Amino acid sequence: MENSSHIIIDPKELNGKRVLVTGGTKGGMGEAIVKRLTKAGATVITTARTTPDELKESDLFIQADISTPDGTTKIAEYILERFGGLDILVNNVGGSSTPTGGVLVQTDADWQRTFDTNLFAAVRLDRGLLPPMLKQGYGVIIHVTSIQRRFPGENTMAYSSAKAALANYSKALATELAPKGIRVNSVAPGFTETKAAERLIERMARERGCDCSDARQALMDSLGGIPIGRTARPEEVAKLVAFLVSNRASYIVGAEHTIDGGIVRTI
Ligand SMILES: NC(=O)c1ccc[n+]([C@@H]2O[C@H](COP(=O)([O-])OP(=O)(O)OC[C@H]3O[C@@H](n4cnc5c(N)ncnc54)[C@H](OP(=O)(O)O)[C@@H]3O)[C@@H](O)[C@H]2O)c1
Repeated sequence: MENSSHIIIDPKELNGKRVLVTGGTKGGMGEAIVKRLTKAGATVITTARTTPDELKESDLFIQADISTPDGTTKIAEYILERFGGLDILVNNVGGSSTPTGGVLVQTDADWQRTFDTNLFAAVRLDRGLLPPMLKQGYGVIIHVTSIQRRFPGENTMAYSSAKAALANYSKALATELAPKGIRVNSVAPGFTETKAAERLIERMARERGCDCSDARQALMDSLGGIPIGRTARPEEVAKLVAFLVSNRASYIVGAEHTIDGGIVRTI
């Protein structure tokens, strides 16, 4: 047993489980989830567009752009051929890169790219990897949504809309697959301090001539404040995912789990 972040990790809990976590390479939630599920004994495969040096020779890494049908097909084919299927699929990749400036500057291409990354990637990957899960009568699927799906950001309307669609799809999928032994749930993080968020805070601090804690506070204030008083650590989201994919969550189906330190005030 390992004691990590005040909880005991059973190193055998996910023994023998084949897991795919998309987007596990850049110091965000994906990487934290990969590490957490690996510590629990799972064989964890991950993906990204860029191959990190340390994963160049690894058979647990697939280079692919998940926002394209070719990318998701490449991932599904590799997993089916190399591992024969999956027990757990964590659809983690997502994000927003649309320009700021309101509805009139968001082009069709911006909307399409955002939906490709945040919705269609998961739909295509689930579809590609479901047949062997259905055959074995067992599986767990997680969709990482966002609090923005209920709390749309001013400059990220395509992203919040895509995440709302992802949450809706996730619920429908959960209902369809529960009788077949497959549990589907979603996780909606709030402001999580990933490596990319750290870089954003540092850039804001430079641009505003303030220190990082003031820049971080400005971001927290822009969300209406975070009642718990701090941002989330990626490892905290990973702990939630580790619980949801385990048999400890055997009766949890079709639920969205918000993990946001209290940002969303509504029920
Ligand atoms: N961070 C937050 O505060 C926050 C809040 C709410 C929800 N979320 C959601 O939580 C999830 C994880 O976010 P995160 O910020 O922690 O990021 P993350 O998990 O660190 O994701 C980045 C990873 O995804 C890969 N990636 C990005 N676009 C890709 C693409 N098109 N194809 C394949 N791989 C791709 C990156 O590698 P490459 O760049 O090499 O491809 C990297 O491995 C996302 O769904 C996000 O929308 C985040």
